[in-house]
Amino acid sequence: MPRPARPARPPADRPRADHPRADRPHGTGRKTSRPKVDHRTRQKAHEYELDALSGLERVAETELAAVPLARDIRGPRFWYPGDPDRLTRMKSVIAVYRIQTWDVPRPRGLLGNQQLSELTEYLRSVVQVGHHASFRIGAAGRESSVMQRLAEELEQGLNLPHDPENGELLIRLRPELDGPGWDVLARITPRPLSARAWRVCNMHGGLNATIAYAVHKLAGQREEDRIFNPMSGSGTLLIERELMGPSAAMVGVDIDQRAVDCAKSNIHAAKRDIEVACIDALHTGLPARSFDLIVGDLPWGDAIGTHVDNEALYPAFLSEMHRLTSKQGRLAVITHEIRLFERVLQNQQKWHAQELLQVASGGHHPKVYLLHKR
Ligand SMILES: C[S@@+](CC[C@H](N)C(=O)[O-])C[C@H]1O[C@@H](n2cnc3c(N)ncnc32)[C@H](O)[C@@H]1O
Repeated sequence: MPRPARPARPPADRPRADHPRADRPHGTGRKTSRPKVDHRTRQKAHEYELDALSGLERVAETELAAVPLARDIRGPRFWYPGDPDRLTRMKSVIAVYRIQTWDVPRPRGLLGNQQLSELTEYLRSVVQVGHHASFRIGAAGRESSVMQRLAEELEQGLNLPHDPENGELLIRLRPELDGPGWDVLARITPRPLSARAWRVCNMHGGLNATIAYAVHKLAGQREEDRIFNPMSGSGTLLIERELMGPSAAMVGVDIDQRAVDCAKSNIHAAKRDIEVACIDALHTGLPARSFDLIVGDLPWGDAIGTHVDNEALYPAFLSEMHRLTSKQGRLAVITHEIRLFERVLQNQQKWHAQELLQVASGGHHPKVYLLHKR
């Protein structure tokens, strides 16, 4: 059965003294001078877990800290009584899962009558929110007879088709991290949150949108910034920044017309108006100090560009972006050509660089740097 209350983990349906729920009477019963309480705190809280790319955990935690009513935050886990729709608007995470723990020593225990009916009810409540059209189980040994039985039972109980490859309700089973039971995680959205609705055009080398969001957050989001995105590709950095809030100006360029067309389709799908042009970023003809923030996702030398070309491109890029950046401006660089980029940095005197993060994405481990003029 689902794990009953533990000191560190208040249950969804039972209030605890240190986690007051508004279904517990407040005050003494007198009708006057009751403090105003956000009505959402009266709703049943559920436990959730964020799934962020490795390297973006801190950015995700910062974003979560700004979600009203999220409480008992322990790394990626937290309790939340509000509308799950608010969680689906998070930009730094791949997915948000509801999580519940069962006191069973192994997954077979979930097939007991009581456990199965609790599990089905729990998953049904997630489907009510996410409107998933199918489900799949993600667990080690998902081909085992136990997992197959579980899938059959859930197919009936949830009245949803089991689609082992593309099921929308992703159910993950894993041993409890700090106890003997099993955690069952259910993704609250049919698609990962990183698969943005605006992405109608994909490009080789397109940046994961959660990384784009993180880069802008760490580089600083200022309304007065004039922003330049050289090498804009499919427009990920431009669109994510535009969706974060206003800026004084924003423009992107790419040397490849197909990339520019791709970015334009995505910008159109995002219902935004951002200027993108097919121009060599190293020869824009723009006046010096035109921008306060330049954000560049340089060719990594595999899907896009070659290592040989990058030997010449990277130093030329740093030099030209120095000319285009205002005196107090910032340059954020994303690259997987780490050795080359750090060598180029060492051989120049114009920029002071700070490593912001390294992230794991699609088999790559790109780093993000923030540069200021010396
Ligand atoms: C890593 S991709 C950028 C991907 C992009 N962030 C996205 O999410 O789609 C690098 C891009 O740099 C462009 N590029 C390479 N050299 C360039 C140059 N000299 N000027 C402008 N764009 C250039 C390539 O055409 C490619 O689209």
